[in-house]
Amino acid sequence: MNEKLECIRAEAVRQIELAPNVRALEETRVRFLGRKGALTEVLRSLGTLCEEERRSIGKSANELKAQITVALDQRKTLLETGEAEARALEHPLDLTLPGRRPAIGRLHPLTRVAEEVIGIFRELGFQVASGPEVETEYYNFDSLNTPDDHPARDQQDTFFVRPGIVLRTQTSPVQVRVMEKTQPPVAIIAPGRVYRHDADASHSPMFFQIEGLLVDHGVSLADLKGTLLLFVHRFFGRETKFRFRPGFFPFTEPSAEVDISCSVCKGTGCRVCKNSGWVEILGCGMVHPEVFRSVGYDYEQYTGYAFGLGIDRITMLRHSISSIHYLYENDLRFLEQF
Ligand code: DAH
Repeated sequence: MNEKLECIRAEAVRQIELAPNVRALEETRVRFLGRKGALTEVLRSLGTLCEEERRSIGKSANELKAQITVALDQRKTLLETGEAEARALEHPLDLTLPGRRPAIGRLHPLTRVAEEVIGIFRELGFQVASGPEVETEYYNFDSLNTPDDHPARDQQDTFFVRPGIVLRTQTSPVQVRVMEKTQPPVAIIAPGRVYRHDADASHSPMFFQIEGLLVDHGVSLADLKGTLLLFVHRFFGRETKFRFRPGFFPFTEPSAEVDISCSVCKGTGCRVCKNSGWVEILGCGMVHPEVFRSVGYDYEQYTGYAFGLGIDRITMLRHSISSIHYLYENDLRFLEQF
């Protein structure tokens, strides 16, 4: 019996060393260790031997099995690396493989819409201005004809940083900052973040506005209306309906709000327009003489118009987004759609 094991060992070692590839090696494994393999047969026949023989032959046979397994594994690793290298040598560089696309990011839908709006107004000759997000109460309210006790302050739940300093609730203070530094004619737009203590499906405590201001000799409400109509047609398309509704803002007189026909349902009524067919997109009006007075402009000589546009609102309309919060959650499943 021992001789037989010796035979198996010699033959297995020889065949393993000679196996030219992984497939041949696997056949060798089956020949010795498979269900009908030479060594398996020996192990299976142990039961026919006497107690003493069974113990000594069993031990040797199991040792041999372990040895063959190790030899098989070593040869396999060797063959595998060799085969991979051979393959690599055969095709060092496959120029026909499609390239790997780098994962590049993209602009946030709010940024894209803001840039589009800015582009439209720049073509009309407006310049881009900016102001601080942490603003004084004076610029955010008082200079805009909204003194301490004005009821209009109630409409903008304000975050106070400390007495006299607020997170700006609107981009309108940029109007005043610009007029303080420049003489008419002035034509600016001011995009930026604004903050209000407000949160539901259509309100976020931080959102975006674009302010517009034009001051010159003889500016009229017709100029304001024409400019806004042009903007709406450019941004939403010529088929969009546009309506001027009387409104109130302390810093404009007269004041108006602009509604457009809902671009989601085309005016037939849906969730976004609360079934009215119309959506408000901005507030506007003719600059109040009190505002001119606070910046030292001669309100006998100059007139002007101003407007404040909600970027979030028009982004939601453009893409039929049902909740403003999608814009701020940074969920890639949402952002990758743009
Ligand atoms: N600041 C206003 C708001 O946030 C919007 C606004 C209305 C801006 C009328 C204006 C304007 O410049 O003339 O509600």
